[in-house]
Amino acid sequence: MSVSVRAATVDDVTAVVDLEVLAFVDPWSVNLLDEGISGLLPTTRYLVAESAGGFVGYAVVSVAQDVAELQRIATAPAARRTGVATALLAAVVAHAADLGAERLLLEVREDNDAALGFYGGAGFAEVARRPRYYRDGTDAVVLERFVRMAP
Ligand SMILES: CC(C)(COP(=O)(O)OP(=O)(O)OC[C@H]1O[C@@H](n2cnc3c(N)ncnc32)[C@H](O)[C@@H]1OP(=O)(O)O)[C@@H](O)C(=O)NCCC(=O)NCCS
Repeated sequence: MSVSVRAATVDDVTAVVDLEVLAFVDPWSVNLLDEGISGLLPTTRYLVAESAGGFVGYAVVSVAQDVAELQRIATAPAARRTGVATALLAAVVAHAADLGAERLLLEVREDNDAALGFYGGAGFAEVARRPRYYRDGTDAVVLERFVRMAP
């Protein structure tokens, strides 16, 4: 599938909110998503992926000096395993590199096999664990990769 990635705009808020609720057990509030997409959080960037049929996913990255944090990445269920998250991650990496970040970090639930499969293939390695990090007692796995990686 051909996927393009662009900066999110306020017209994307509804699609992002709907996918957030579908994709995460601890969805962010509409207010937080609206604030972020509106550009009110200066270090945070929202990216949207589109295919010919429209919105298929989004990612959220914040960059502070040499460290970028991938806060969210999600693909619409019907578009999974078609390269959407791969395209979003490439755009996240490009943005982080533009701002001078050297490392890209994230937290993932230890029971999220899809995400762990995706990140493992994208060059991330485990650097820490946060026991009982999530509300339901699930551990968080902290993953990291270099922003610029050898091809
Ligand atoms: C994790 C997620 C973002 C992956 O998105 P995606 O668009 O399907 O990923 P891609 O199509 O770019 O996958 C690229 C590669 O990642 C790996 N991968 C993706 N989904 C996988 C899965 N369910 N199981 C194992 N490996 C997987 C595969 O190697 C895949 O390549 P392949 O399809 O050629 O085998 C998606 O499953 C999702 O939205 N999950 C819910 C939200 C979430 O958990 N986000 C991460 C929170 S930390």
